[in-house]
Amino acid sequence: MDTRVPDRSLAGRVALVTGGTGGIGMSTAVGLARRGAEVIVTGRDPGRGRDAVRTIAEAAGVAPGAVRLRIADLGVLGDVRRLADEVLADHPRLHLLVNNAGVNNGSRRTTPDGLEENLAVNAVAPVLLTRLLHDRLAASAEPGRASRVVLVSSSAHKMVRRAADALGDPQAQAAPYVAMTAYARSKLLALMAGFALARELGGGPVSVAAVDPGPADTGMTRSMDRTFLPPAMRAGWALYYRLGPARRSPDTAALSPLAAATAAELEGRTGLYLDARGRPARTSPASRDEQAQRAALTLLDGLAAHTNASVAPSER
Ligand SMILES: NC(=O)c1ccc[n+]([C@@H]2O[C@H](COP(=O)([O-])OP(=O)(O)OC[C@H]3O[C@@H](n4cnc5c(N)ncnc54)[C@H](OP(=O)(O)O)[C@@H]3O)[C@@H](O)[C@H]2O)c1
Repeated sequence: MDTRVPDRSLAGRVALVTGGTGGIGMSTAVGLARRGAEVIVTGRDPGRGRDAVRTIAEAAGVAPGAVRLRIADLGVLGDVRRLADEVLADHPRLHLLVNNAGVNNGSRRTTPDGLEENLAVNAVAPVLLTRLLHDRLAASAEPGRASRVVLVSSSAHKMVRRAADALGDPQAQAAPYVAMTAYARSKLLALMAGFALARELGGGPVSVAAVDPGPADTGMTRSMDRTFLPPAMRAGWALYYRLGPARRSPDTAALSPLAAATAAELEGRTGLYLDARGRPARTSPASRDEQAQRAALTLLDGLAAHTNASVAPSER
């Protein structure tokens, strides 16, 4: 497979793209709509969401009704559950789930559920949403054509050398908080859980693939500066930014999620990781430890079940 995404028709297929209101998610939504899919995108802000839906439909050359909006803050477990309920109520069939929404926060934030936000949005939400929508995805699969779950990961997972570092401090509580370290740990946890989930589902009617979209010039990367990096890496930030995100468009970065969502060559395969060119690739040694993968999935399932009743409404 190369960087060209096959023009496989998605007519009659329904796709949910989280974080489809900007960046790589919006480009992925355009690519899916252009191939004929009915696309549901999610975002937090109704105004931004409505603008995004118009932009996606225009860019894809489809009727406005072919792109739908759902409002949900994926850092809030109740919102993830409500989103799943709404999708299940409105869409008798669902063939693709692209878990794209992600954050990389410059300072440590907690969600209303008491979870560190990178962990909540990047790792807990994708696993919970996948579990909640699994049966609909499975029921929508067709002979020879599995439904697909795509987890938008990042090569940043490689920054975490030992799975125990991510499993041991998932809430990024150790001081000092370093944004890129917290982000990388959340991405490693999500990736490991994704591999465990792929094994658990067993390559039946629902396949799971993780992808590295590669660097891209998006809201996320524009909000970053050298202070996001561990001190030893800060000197290289400007050069990395100029050679990486600044030179690569979200449309280019969407090639790997689009390949994972559509490529015929991937039919019957699960648990894959595609690199920034959409080719199957190896992830870090830490991420391939099967025991750690199971521990990551157990951790994220447990956090998804958690509600922090002790958080007073005024603190939310
Ligand atoms: N950009 C890169 O260089 C790069 C590299 C590797 C991997 N990635 C991964 O690619 C994915 C997309 O990143 P991006 O760069 O395109 O980011 P982006 O431009 O910041 O877009 C993020 C999207 O996620 C949504 N979002 C953010 N927080 C959310 C929340 N709490 N609940 C629901 N939606 C939320 C945003 O929607 P609203 O703001 O409208 O709510 C937006 O649509 C992420 O998973 C990221 O980790 C990016």
